[in-house]
Amino acid sequence: MIKDIKTLKLKPILLIAVYFSLINFAYSHNHFPITIDSKIMIAKGKIAYENNCVSCHMINLAGAKNWKGVDEDGHRKAPPLNGTGHTWHHDDKTLHAIIKNGLAKLVKNYEGKMIGFEDKLSDKDIDSVLAYIKSYWPKDKYDHQINMSK
Ligand code: HEC
Repeated sequence: MIKDIKTLKLKPILLIAVYFSLINFAYSHNHFPITIDSKIMIAKGKIAYENNCVSCHMINLAGAKNWKGVDEDGHRKAPPLNGTGHTWHHDDKTLHAIIKNGLAKLVKNYEGKMIGFEDKLSDKDIDSVLAYIKSYWPKDKYDHQINMSK
């Protein structure tokens, strides 16, 4: 080993290792899957949720009344995020992107009401909101979604 380093045989491999750990470090704020292991993260997410999401998704995350219908403008209503709807069918990357960019950037000609929160919430805030949302999910749905997000 020491001899290898001396003769620099390991150099390319070491460089590649350093490069990948730097990339990992740079993206570590987007660390998926997002778990419910950190109480602090959930508490922060609750505050961000209550400041930004309650008006449509409701304080208990249950979504709009009769959420499967459309509102007076003909737009879809806010679905529940509490595990009864379909939020847990999406992996963390998708959920993060929906909250960050809104559906407008993801769906062509989108005219609905789910706008992005890029200007208001950092990536870390968004991950915290997701941890808070997941804290409502039944264990089987949580486990399923965590597996999808790995
Ligand atoms: C102005 C109302 C409004 C606000 C505020 C809002 N949403 Fe939404 N959201 C919607 C609507 C409406 C949809 C359904 C989108 C559609 O189908 O057009 C949606 C969809 C979503 C989805 C996809 C859910 C799924 O099951 O597919 C997620 C996740 C979500 N919102 C999270 C959030 C979070 C987190 C916040 C706060 C940071 C937030 N929303 C704020 C209206 C809103």
